[in-house]
Amino acid sequence: MNFNKQFENYDYNAIVQKEVAKKLLTFIDKSKKYDTILELGCGTGIFTKIIKSNLIFSSLDLNDIFDTTNYFDKNIYRNFFIANMESFQFENYSLIVSSSAFQWAENLENLIKNISKNTNELVFSIYSKGNLIEIFNHFGVSLNYKDSQEILNILKKYYTTVKFEEEEFTLNFPTPLKALKHLKETGVTGFSTSNYSKIKSFNSNILTYKVSYFSCKN
Ligand SMILES: C[S@@+](CC[C@H](N)C(=O)[O-])C[C@H]1O[C@@H](n2cnc3c(N)ncnc32)[C@H](O)[C@@H]1O
Repeated sequence: MNFNKQFENYDYNAIVQKEVAKKLLTFIDKSKKYDTILELGCGTGIFTKIIKSNLIFSSLDLNDIFDTTNYFDKNIYRNFFIANMESFQFENYSLIVSSSAFQWAENLENLIKNISKNTNELVFSIYSKGNLIEIFNHFGVSLNYKDSQEILNILKKYYTTVKFEEEEFTLNFPTPLKALKHLKETGVTGFSTSNYSKIKSFNSNILTYKVSYFSCKN
């Protein structure tokens, strides 16, 4: 994970993440009045800004594993928790949200279980099996992406109502190297110079993103 080094270029390159954040909002009831909201893995605030301008709530807490507070106006949030979302103990919230971050969880089920103890409404987007398949095919590297059905099975253990949708995005680049640069700048993966010949032989001008959206209620 290379977010910390790449946050400054992130917003410009996060084309898919912006689309995903916009769509994620459609899974949340905009007419409902929420008391407290927690966003996990908020990064530079792409989804946070969408929450702020579209939802009705009393207070918003933010979390990221890195200190990204510089990207936020202080009065947008109540608390900012710099912590690993998988190990920090959070309180109860009316709504917990997360966009484009849960694919980093080492133990998604534990995370969901912990969240379910603290909220009756969870809405998130996550990259799923087949995401960045071009990178896996060439470099043999990938996060441990789960397929939507697997995620659905986990969620159903902890939530009574679960809705989901899948979406695929294909991004085209002028050259394979530009595709890799794009990935680097969204912090998705870091290619070390020791991989130089592997980088040169990468020959895909396209990158495929696979995303799943989930809305869970108890
Ligand atoms: C692809 S970015 C998405 C950021 C933002 N939510 C958006 O929609 O643009 C993933 C974010 O998750 C954060 N992250 C990854 N693993 C995390 C963890 N275990 N706990 C908290 N944040 C984490 C990263 O630092 C990064 O900011």
